[in-house]
Amino acid sequence: MNILAELRGRFAAALAALADDAPQGVAAADLTPFADMVLPSQDAKFGDYQANCAMPLGKKLGKPPRDVAAQLVSALKLNDICDEPEVAGPGFINLRLRDAWLAERLTEALGDTENLGVSAVAEPRTYVLDYSSPNVAKPMHVGHIRSTAIGDALAKVLRALGHRVITDNHIGDWGTQFGMIIYGYKHFVDEAALAADAVPELSRLYRLVNQIGDHQQLAATGVPALEAKIAEAEGRVADLQAAPAQDDKKKEKQAAKKLRQAEGQLADLRKELAGAQEKLAAFEADAELSRLAAEHPAIGASALAETAKLHSGDEENVALWERFLPDCLEVMDEIYRRLGVTFDHTLGESFYHDRLAPVVEDLQAKNLARESDGAICVFLDGHDAPFLVRKKDGAFLYATTDLATIRYRMEEWRPDAILYVVDHRQSLHFEQLFATARLWGFDDLELEHVSFGTVLGDDGRPFKTRSGSAVGLMGLLDEAVERAHKILSENDDARPEPMLSADERLEAAERIGIGAIKYADLAHNRTSDYTFNYDKMLAMNGNTAAYMQYSCARVKSIFTRGGVDAASLRTPGAEIVLDSLAERALGLELLRLSETLARVAADYKPNHLTAYLFDLASRYSEFFEHCPVLKAESEELKTSRLRLCDLTARTLERGLGLLGIETVARM
Ligand code: ARG
Repeated sequence: MNILAELRGRFAAALAALADDAPQGVAAADLTPFADMVLPSQDAKFGDYQANCAMPLGKKLGKPPRDVAAQLVSALKLNDICDEPEVAGPGFINLRLRDAWLAERLTEALGDTENLGVSAVAEPRTYVLDYSSPNVAKPMHVGHIRSTAIGDALAKVLRALGHRVITDNHIGDWGTQFGMIIYGYKHFVDEAALAADAVPELSRLYRLVNQIGDHQQLAATGVPALEAKIAEAEGRVADLQAAPAQDDKKKEKQAAKKLRQAEGQLADLRKELAGAQEKLAAFEADAELSRLAAEHPAIGASALAETAKLHSGDEENVALWERFLPDCLEVMDEIYRRLGVTFDHTLGESFYHDRLAPVVEDLQAKNLARESDGAICVFLDGHDAPFLVRKKDGAFLYATTDLATIRYRMEEWRPDAILYVVDHRQSLHFEQLFATARLWGFDDLELEHVSFGTVLGDDGRPFKTRSGSAVGLMGLLDEAVERAHKILSENDDARPEPMLSADERLEAAERIGIGAIKYADLAHNRTSDYTFNYDKMLAMNGNTAAYMQYSCARVKSIFTRGGVDAASLRTPGAEIVLDSLAERALGLELLRLSETLARVAADYKPNHLTAYLFDLASRYSEFFEHCPVLKAESEELKTSRLRLCDLTARTLERGLGLLGIETVARM
């Protein structure tokens, strides 16, 4: 039962009734959306839920808000659920759920082994979720873990609500990185290393070609461009300095400010140049690298030519691609196994190769794309730059593949929505992609860029793993697990009698370490950046996976201590007593799982669920403090409280499970 949705439904009916004596031109449909202003109360003294819609409604209807509130209350049919609503202050409507009604809902939830009382949506939708999607053979970075964690959690939550979900890992397996690897293979390969362990050697080749290319570009165009900018900035400063003095004080001040700005810009540019020169010097100090760079001028263009050959079906390059790809996929899959993540499909960019030309043809035939400077472009209202679907040299782009992918997904799965869990730096791409797709005829499809912020290091810059490679990513997971193991062992060794065997410690550490990384990714509002910090994410206190896992284990330990089989408590009609404040608060929180999941599904933010679990754990602590369970005054009360414990443990476990986080029996 989604309590919030139920209350809003009842409010919508009452609001519609207000339309009867509303001023001319105000229809029921204008009033019913105010039902969304029913929200959980911030403070229990204002009841369980609160509606503050009477204030804006008062304006709309030209009546005092308190009168509107009174009218609404008399139109509301709520007495099966709530005590008599109370109008407070300027027109707040406070709602308190009836204790008996709450207890009945808890009984239902307790008996609902699968869903714990979470109601399925009335109209299930089909969602395609595009997440993780790394570029294989290129170093995978923490951002890909964030995408994976968020996408996996959203898939699980949407499924829990009864939606049909298709997950598709849109890997970059056809891009320029393969041209670089192929070029590297043809010129620099260490055959023995490749035979021994392919991926590190392929990564080395990728990095080598990339490094030489970056260096050449910096030397050939980067530095000269900076120098030109500096000369320009110097000219500006000189002009401003030479400008005749102003007699007007205000103008004088403005001129001084302008000069300071120009000087600041100049200083920044000089700093940038110094950085670039330092980089060049470091490269040149390496004799081997310098030699290679001299022997392979314009390596970037050569690598691009290898990519072009691959795309046009060159036998040798296709064979190399086919040879390298499985190894690259294997490294990626290792990470997924470790994270416990699976996908329904992994249809990478290469899958769409033959579907790209028809996309461009179709766009041209429909007059949506046209030639400009030899390239084929879609011009979009509100965008200065066009959306490029074919380059001058005939090459297709990331954009073309994404358009072909939308078309394929529509033909194959007929989704109502496609969600792309991709970092915020690609927002322009997705804006243009969605606008183009709508023009192309996919206009009743919901296309959503579920964007997320950057994972930062302690220095406030984008977090980098030590070796900056996929191997580095595995190292990152290892380190979290090792640290979890250390904390776990220290705590356990401090006990008079350690609780965990060596194997149990290892298993728990894996769950806690991996859980910590996922939870940190999920608990932050996805749109903001956050700082990757092992100490914080592994802390036993606060809104962390470790704290949630600990809470869950603690609740369950009651059953061991009391020698109670939790499943035996879940009999049909099992009674639950909500006499004390702490019991009632816990009971109400337990029933909010349903509305929490609906919230996650509404704005695609898993942090509503982490916040909920944290609140639930707090309500449980208060309950545990105030309500003896095994030593309750009566057998009846003991059973009821054990039922609340059982439901708490299962709700925590279910919630963590939906976040892709495993629990631990003891810690
Ligand atoms: N491969 C891309 C990257 O690593 C992300 C792909 C996201 N999905 C998509 N359909 N564009 O940046």
